[in-house]
Amino acid sequence: NWKISNLAEQIIEDLRRKIDGRVILGLSGGVDSSVVAMLLHKAVPDKFIPIFVDTGLLRKNECIEVVKQFEEIGIHIHYVDASEKFLEVLDGVEDPEEKRKRIGHTFIDVFYEEAMKLKEKYGDIKYLAQGTLYPDIIESKVAERKAGAKIKTHHNVGGLPEKLPFEIIEPLRYLFKDEVRMLGQEIGLPSSILKRHPFPGPGLAVRIIGSVTREAVKTLQEADFIFIEELKKWDLYDKVWQAFAVLLPIKSVGVMGDYRTYENVIALRAVTSEDGMTADWAKLPHDFLNHVAKRIVNEVKGVNRVVYDITSKPPATIEWE
Ligand code: XMP
Repeated sequence: NWKISNLAEQIIEDLRRKIDGRVILGLSGGVDSSVVAMLLHKAVPDKFIPIFVDTGLLRKNECIEVVKQFEEIGIHIHYVDASEKFLEVLDGVEDPEEKRKRIGHTFIDVFYEEAMKLKEKYGDIKYLAQGTLYPDIIESKVAERKAGAKIKTHHNVGGLPEKLPFEIIEPLRYLFKDEVRMLGQEIGLPSSILKRHPFPGPGLAVRIIGSVTREAVKTLQEADFIFIEELKKWDLYDKVWQAFAVLLPIKSVGVMGDYRTYENVIALRAVTSEDGMTADWAKLPHDFLNHVAKRIVNEVKGVNRVVYDITSKPPATIEWE
């Protein structure tokens, strides 16, 4: 596609011309920040420092995979393990908005602290790059206009640290998501990154209904991993917009051999959608759901029941919190 290849060249050239100091980026492993990372790596490889904040609320193995994937491309990630801190600030918090608020603030604090450390070390960090897209800009304008009518506070790594003493660089600010994907493909990002399902900024915290504990995170990670692994095996992963597991704060009675069990419930959610604004629940094959449910109950400690969410958006949202 000549248009996209021209665009890629132009963005890289602009970045190269503009940037005359070091540039940092909050890299999440999602499509947008990954494309920005790749653009910066091509434009100013020696001046670029991507920062990955591990909230401990990511999918199983995800942070190792992201670090490895970028290492293979030749991008070395500055990794920050903040998982303890996030568990601490979430301790006992059940309210979804309160969770989102605390995670958002903690993320800014951790990122800021790390950026300052790097600034001390390197001195000339001048820019902060962000993966802001055109719809993000429109959405925040609309939200400003309708202030108060907000449905849910969305936390986005791309939209965070405004008070940092850096000049903001947003190479994707005139692009839509599908264009960003095409751009990513053009500049050589692996399709495993480009096709990854969207993931909310607050991570698994909003998929654990009720309070977030280390144990709950582990349980959810295991169940989610099985669901995603099977979706890929059955060639269904790319056919849905998003799919994930949710850990419910209730227990139910089951039976295993001669014993009565009293354990957690996992809800599976899979939706089809164009843009995440509206969504239909995915009509996954019964054989598939049957297989996944069996695996989860057999392999995930503490889970004895699996249910499938059959609500669309609206009236439900995609995430449960
Ligand atoms: P909802 O649950 O509002 O989600 O129907 C719509 C899409 O947005 C994702 N989502 C988020 N993305 N930060 C994000 O970057 C957030 O705080 C957040 N909350 C929800 C959700 O996964 C779905 O794709």
